[in-house]
Amino acid sequence: MEQEKFYITTPIYYVNDKPHIGHAYTTILADILARFHREKGSDTFFLTGTDEHGQKVQTSAQERGIAPQEHCDEMVVHFQEAWDRLKINYDKFIRTTDDYHKKIVQQVLQELYDKGEIYADEYGGHYCVGCERFLTDKELEEGNGKCPQHDKEPEFIQEKNYFFKMSKYQDWLIEYINDHPDFIQPEHRKNEVLGFLRQDLNDLCISRPKERLAWGIELPFDSDYVTYVWFDALLNYVTGIGYKQDDKEFEKWWPADFHLIGKDIVTTHCVYWPTMLKAMDVPLPDTIFAHGWWLMNESKMSKSLNNIVSPLDLMDHYGVDPVRYYLVRDMVLGQDANFSEKLFIERYNAELANDFGNLANRITALINKYYDAIPEPGELHEKDAELKENAEKLPASVHSFIEKMDLNKATDKVMEFVRSVNKYMEVREPWKLIKKDKEATGTVLYCAAEALRISARLLHPIMPDKINILLESLPVNQQKDKFAWGGLAAGQKLGDFDALFPRIDVKKVEKKKEKESKPKPKKKKVDMIDIDDFAKVNLKIAQIKEAEPVEGADKLLKLQVDDGEGIRQLVAGIAKHYEIEDLIDQKIVIVANLEPAKIFGVKSEGMLLAASDQDGMALLTPLNDIEAGAEVS
Ligand code: MSP
Repeated sequence: MEQEKFYITTPIYYVNDKPHIGHAYTTILADILARFHREKGSDTFFLTGTDEHGQKVQTSAQERGIAPQEHCDEMVVHFQEAWDRLKINYDKFIRTTDDYHKKIVQQVLQELYDKGEIYADEYGGHYCVGCERFLTDKELEEGNGKCPQHDKEPEFIQEKNYFFKMSKYQDWLIEYINDHPDFIQPEHRKNEVLGFLRQDLNDLCISRPKERLAWGIELPFDSDYVTYVWFDALLNYVTGIGYKQDDKEFEKWWPADFHLIGKDIVTTHCVYWPTMLKAMDVPLPDTIFAHGWWLMNESKMSKSLNNIVSPLDLMDHYGVDPVRYYLVRDMVLGQDANFSEKLFIERYNAELANDFGNLANRITALINKYYDAIPEPGELHEKDAELKENAEKLPASVHSFIEKMDLNKATDKVMEFVRSVNKYMEVREPWKLIKKDKEATGTVLYCAAEALRISARLLHPIMPDKINILLESLPVNQQKDKFAWGGLAAGQKLGDFDALFPRIDVKKVEKKKEKESKPKPKKKKVDMIDIDDFAKVNLKIAQIKEAEPVEGADKLLKLQVDDGEGIRQLVAGIAKHYEIEDLIDQKIVIVANLEPAKIFGVKSEGMLLAASDQDGMALLTPLNDIEAGAEVS
């Protein structure tokens, strides 16, 4: 049987900013789908990359005062590093400033120009810089004269430009969408596109005069112009897999199985791209799937609202797997979802720490306690057989949800099963059964561990980091299909692993964040002294004998200390940091030759040494025991 292939893409991201949670979401989603298909045995290709031309990038570079290419070279690293840290296993990362891409874009433009698909014309229209295109009359109407997406007044521009004859494909496109129900998903997005196509489609302006925008791919037939950024960017989906460079490679992967996009770029993908491909005589991708947006407190994440969530900050606090898990678990594909760190922690604690992590720890601890290796299963009790049957049905059911792009349900299915394994343990009670029947206990623990392994295999594409550690500790029979019951190799030893998903202590997280958000105290400017100055200070070890509060001063303690020559009295501002009983008998460092002074009416003969920062105070004490009175130098 011929091996199935799977080609999936993400949008290529503008390098005008660092990656945020929205970019990370699309990329994680594509990665999970690619991993599922690889695990299923399909020959898989996953393409992602960066969109480096156009107004937005040029403006960002200008703001930083550097050349656009230099800006792109610096910014692309943020995306590549973020994807590495998020365990994104792409096959290729395309940059639209790559030479091969630029060359093919020019070749396509020339061919379309030669075929009469592109023509020059004088045009006046309302141009939105945010959209990087002229707005349609309907859009202007919708936004009351402003761009409905960016809520900004467009600029009226009249100039010569080049146009792609998109309008002539309108009827064909409507028919194509109607004849291919899977082409645009989900259904409501398809209807949105068909709605858009009910008005007359204009030809597409595919050039920008260099005097207005210099940062782009030059038109091969007019060096005063660069290519419209979307005409350049969309072509990445074919240039990235060998189009007009390696026919065999291109035919192997094209048409794409999935272009995964956000709902903001439906028109460009579902109207511009198909008509461009039609003009190029290239078949259309199988499915364009638009997911919803991650919102913050129900509103769009944006730089101006300063509410952008950084995927890397989240990862620094919680690790890569929980972030990936939460994103697919909490967004119903196609709909918007509200990002909430509180919900994130609740989900983590309930599902990863409690349901899954505890199950893994419990099963492996019991096997290690009662057996030298994975026990051999004997005859199955009714409950064991029921568990086996459910585990056998699970992979097909999870895979069917994945085929439908319903990762949310797919994850739900696995977690539902994990909870049923926890219940199974409660019912079979191997910790009690072991006292009566070692063989039956072995069967229970084998069944539970096998159920755990199958769940872990299914969760692996979502959480490739921690789950991999677990899977590597579970020995398997290589001959068996990895999702089939019985793959766990009885008689072999279990490997070690630490707690997979320790509970998140919300209070600790809040404290850590509070600490991180506090401005670091400014360093005091310190004057230099010479050794003679230092020698003037007589530092000594002293031992605290008594301590009591100073009346009327809640920060102060009155201490009686032994300085090796006798008892002296010190007043110190340490009452808020130490309990009296913890201080008695402690050895400390004092300045012994400080002029005596009265503090709150109490005499103080010297002072003790302590360090302090924004979190508190620490008394200086000798590392090992030393006599009171010892000189400090
Ligand atoms: N460069 C174009 C795409 C060209 S594809 C040929 C572009 N880039 S972008 O940097 O603005 O990224 C857009 C994509 O990022 C969206 O389509 C979506 O996939 C993702 N997201 C950006 N913000 C998002 C959210 N708040 N939530 C979810 N995803 C969103 O458009």
